[in-house]
Amino acid sequence: MRRKVIAGNWKMNNNLSESQNLITKLISGLSNEKLNSDVVICPPFTSLSEASSLAKNTVIKLGAQNMYFEENGAFTGEISAEMLKSVGCEYVILGHSERRIIFGELDQLINKKIKKALQSGLKPIFCVGETLEERESGVTEEVIKRQVTEGLKEISANEMDRIIVAYEPVWAIGTGKTATPQQAEEVHAFIRNLVLNLYSSSVAEKLVIQYGGSVKPDNAAELLSQNDIDGALVGGACLKADSFISIIKSA
Ligand code: 13P
Repeated sequence: MRRKVIAGNWKMNNNLSESQNLITKLISGLSNEKLNSDVVICPPFTSLSEASSLAKNTVIKLGAQNMYFEENGAFTGEISAEMLKSVGCEYVILGHSERRIIFGELDQLINKKIKKALQSGLKPIFCVGETLEERESGVTEEVIKRQVTEGLKEISANEMDRIIVAYEPVWAIGTGKTATPQQAEEVHAFIRNLVLNLYSSSVAEKLVIQYGGSVKPDNAAELLSQNDIDGALVGGACLKADSFISIIKSA
């Protein structure tokens, strides 16, 4: 049985005091719950250190939203894996469609970041997903296959234990238009099968594949009940403690 992982991607939201406020509410809302899933929050870089102090000895684990693959040096504006580790991060989101589309990140760059994150002991949450245009022109599987294959290049079967894949159809992100549980399940099963072909059935069986894209309290349970959906990567609905907690409880 795969343990579900519910992660909240805060994106570019919440200054320091807003972050403190949200984390405090999450901690008190989750403190007496017996959870069936792991919980990860991914605040902006500027709140990570404080988030780490607040979340210490609670069920909440910490992730970042991006990093660069170099160790250090003249890379203005970038953050290294080691820096993320030093403020208590366990996870890092890589290859998010907003990074791919707005910031022009390509598969090869994402692959370098994933490799560096793994080498540094971070757990990548590796995002893949097709655009509306790609879905409508019938190339969803082709796109996912390219993203998965290129993103996982030179990553060993052992390292796969520490990777989460997040399927986030771009057309479902921030649009209120969720993939139906069947649409999502179809792509999740396709991803698992790709990983089976790239590695082995035991690697594929262990892989946690999250769904992301307009996950809300009222659709989370059905999505999370699908065979190959092992968690959620939540955007908008993780910015309110009540709705994030309700999604966590539906797992
Ligand atoms: P929304 O939940 O706001 O659609 O965002 C999903 C997402 O991009 C999480 O990484």
